[in-house]
Amino acid sequence: MLERIAGLRNEIDVDLDMVSSAEDVERLRLRHFVRKGTLQVLTDALREVPREEKPAVGKALNELRRHAEARFAEMESRFARRSAVRYVDGSLPGRTLLRGTDHPITQMIDRAIEIFGSMGFDVAEGPDVEDDAHNFAKLNFAADHPARDMQDTFFVEHADRQDVLLRTHTSSVQIRAMESMQPPIRCIMPGRVYRNEAISARSLAEFHQIEGLYIDKGVSMADLKATIIEFARRFYDSDASFRFRTSFFPFTEPSAEIDMSCFLCKGQGCRVCKHSGWLEICGSGMVHPNVLRACGIDPDEYSGFAFGFGVERVVMMLTGIDDIRLLYDNDARVLRQF
Ligand code: PHE
Repeated sequence: MLERIAGLRNEIDVDLDMVSSAEDVERLRLRHFVRKGTLQVLTDALREVPREEKPAVGKALNELRRHAEARFAEMESRFARRSAVRYVDGSLPGRTLLRGTDHPITQMIDRAIEIFGSMGFDVAEGPDVEDDAHNFAKLNFAADHPARDMQDTFFVEHADRQDVLLRTHTSSVQIRAMESMQPPIRCIMPGRVYRNEAISARSLAEFHQIEGLYIDKGVSMADLKATIIEFARRFYDSDASFRFRTSFFPFTEPSAEIDMSCFLCKGQGCRVCKHSGWLEICGSGMVHPNVLRACGIDPDEYSGFAFGFGVERVVMMLTGIDDIRLLYDNDARVLRQF
């Protein structure tokens, strides 16, 4: 009896291995599973099995039935699936093809490159891992200058150098541009910067800045104003007004913080401008003679302006995203909106 059970199991397996259509499966079902089918015939034969063998044979029969049912179910669903794709249901809604888009930070940088590009600015880049000279010293930060405390620096461990760090601002690229090019120099320098800051809804330890630099004979504060105003009117709001506030950076003299009337409330006061009517758009100034000198440019012959701003802040103002971390989670539900 146990041999007959093993034989039937083998037969069912072989039969099922050879099916190639739903009809084959149905034919086998009629052969094995119906009332007079092979499985039932064997089950009926259990009656003739001697009493003491019954438990073992009964168990083997149950196992066979379970095995056969599972294999049939699998085959049935396999062919059912196949037959379902044989026709096209024209009433089904289409499947959306998801297309990738540029990240909002990339979009912002690209627009800035385009606008400044139309004003004659090239794009320059520099390394993220810098040395003290490019990030601080040549930018006129004295060794013990308190302004170094304005920025919490990540230092990089290096076998035989103490001055390796992650750049804290893109102003390091100003230095590299002036060292490697002859005036006139006109470029913007987008890039990632790093500061050892607590992570919160408003700040990250890693973010982006865009720096701008223009060096030539006779460049004045008027050129700085005209350039920033032209950019901001094209980028944010064509009838914005502006405000220049004196400020301080070691690498510019004089320095100015530039504010623009809020593009959202037009200066009336709203949540974006924190009810002041003004948005701070960048730090700027005339490149300090010491900086020009450190890069081998004669300050009696040349002058220039520089400016810099944070990209994430701009993206947040324009999109209404109020937690900077959302820009780095890469959650498609957020990114898909831009
Ligand atoms: N590097 C300054 C900062 O990170 C911004 C700046 C750039 C200011 C160029 C003036 C000129 O805050």
